[in-house]
Amino acid sequence: MTTAKKIPTAHINCQLFYVSEVQASQVENLKMLIAEHALPIILDIELFPEKLNQKRRQQLSETSIQPILLLDDKDRLSWLSDGLSVAPEWDKLQRRVVSAGRKSELLLQAAKITSDSTVIDATAGFGHDSLILASTGAQVTMLEQQPLMALLLLAEQQRMSTLPNWQKLMSRLQIINVDALSYFAKLQAESVNAIKENDAKVVDVIYLDPMFPEDSYQDSKTGKGAKVGKHMQALHQLASPPTLEEESQLLQSAQAIVSQGAGQGRVVVKRPQLAPLLANQQPSESWHNEAVRFDGYFV
Ligand SMILES: C[S@@+](CC[C@H](N)C(=O)[O-])C[C@H]1O[C@@H](n2cnc3c(N)ncnc32)[C@H](O)[C@@H]1O
Repeated sequence: MTTAKKIPTAHINCQLFYVSEVQASQVENLKMLIAEHALPIILDIELFPEKLNQKRRQQLSETSIQPILLLDDKDRLSWLSDGLSVAPEWDKLQRRVVSAGRKSELLLQAAKITSDSTVIDATAGFGHDSLILASTGAQVTMLEQQPLMALLLLAEQQRMSTLPNWQKLMSRLQIINVDALSYFAKLQAESVNAIKENDAKVVDVIYLDPMFPEDSYQDSKTGKGAKVGKHMQALHQLASPPTLEEESQLLQSAQAIVSQGAGQGRVVVKRPQLAPLLANQQPSESWHNEAVRFDGYFV
């Protein structure tokens, strides 16, 4: 994998290749999503005259200095990262989402949410964990700081909303391109006024899955732990792990928000199984398998 410079979070110029003239309306939809959500993305749009085989993808990746987006003939938007197309691919999670429950999903054991819960996934990424959280019937607000990722998520939500089996779940997701810390600060400021007016919004669970140093998923001595998949490899080009101070800020402000309700608010943090604790803070309880660990901070 290349050690490319990180893609900025402000004003990104992207090349968008689409492969069929009939997709012009889908390209318009993407432009509308960018405008509607005020994403700081400028698209340089090009109709690609031939099928984009792997060799061409690799060439494009190597020669372009801008991030490349591809709209395929099934209207799937993907990002070409090191010659590999990466996309949320939510349909591939169908089985997992349908059968998700506290027995099968460690995340749901840790989060203990119900269909009435209000959840914030503050580090949405490809949105896979958000889908598991929303499979319970809960409303999930997905925060993603990186505009390119936010566009991939919004385009996937739009595409999946056309599939009858997915419509209800899609309607429970709200995707926002924002840095979690600024969003939390705004929520806290709003709640000060809302408490005065007896109209405070309750957030039951905040889920954090921040980036982690690339070489830390496996134990260096035993080789145990998770291998980094293509989605995670791609994310490492977009986002850096937080500093210790940022970890503390994230955890503290998340805890402050879930403690505003009268209920059993909790912050759940995902880590590679062998990773140190977020902000060195001891959780109330942890759940783990051989790859990942969920640390629960209860209020
Ligand atoms: C490890 S990934 C999350 C993967 C995600 N749980 C999934 O299921 O696909 C972390 C993501 O959080 C985003 N992120 C990191 N810090 C953030 C912050 N402070 N605010 C919003 N998004 C953040 C990164 O851009 C990256 O996309």
